Amino acid sequence: MKHATKALALGLALVAGVAMAAEATDPTVKARQELMDVIGMNTGILGKMAGGETPFDAAAAEGAKAAIAGAAAEIAAKFEPQAADPKSTAKEDIWANWDDFVKKGDALKAAAEAMDATTLEGVQAGMGAIGGSCKDCHSTYRIPS
Ligand code: HEC
Repeated sequence: MKHATKALALGLALVAGVAMAAEATDPTVKARQELMDVIGMNTGILGKMAGGETPFDAAAAEGAKAAIAGAAAEIAAKFEPQAADPKSTAKEDIWANWDDFVKKGDALKAAAEAMDATTLEGVQAGMGAIGGSCKDCHSTYRIPS
């Protein structure tokens, strides 16, 4: 029970995070931010279901899970070019610790794939690991807004 409450809080915090998205003009930075927005939007869909804000919908949950896993698989390719933009919140540490950054992207992919999106309980149980992997990467490699 305690775990589900924590996952819910995390899910809602992530939904709020989507609204704070920056608008870069550099095309490379824009592309990686758009990839993150896809991840953020789909995490929001799962978070709202987990918290009972929207009714559970297995097809939508499966779709969101697949979208997160698919986008996570693209993190390395989208971040590899070290482009800069005043609106970017990416820390330069990413490219100095590239293997670790890639590992954190893989962790998100694994967390999304491990989620059982066929039941509400499965989504609630899986939110913690997904949200944890966002936080793990952002806290190290993203400039807090
Ligand atoms: C491997 C590292 C990593 C993981 C994992 C990760 N992020 Fe990010 N995220 C970043 C970085 C770096 C940025 C900043 C990109 C920039 O501004 O150049 C970012 C930016 C964002 C943004 C803002 C995008 C914009 O338009 O400015 C959102 C929303 C976001 N992430 C959501 C999430 C969510 C939700 C998760 C987990 C489900 C997640 N991220 C997992 C590294 C990560």
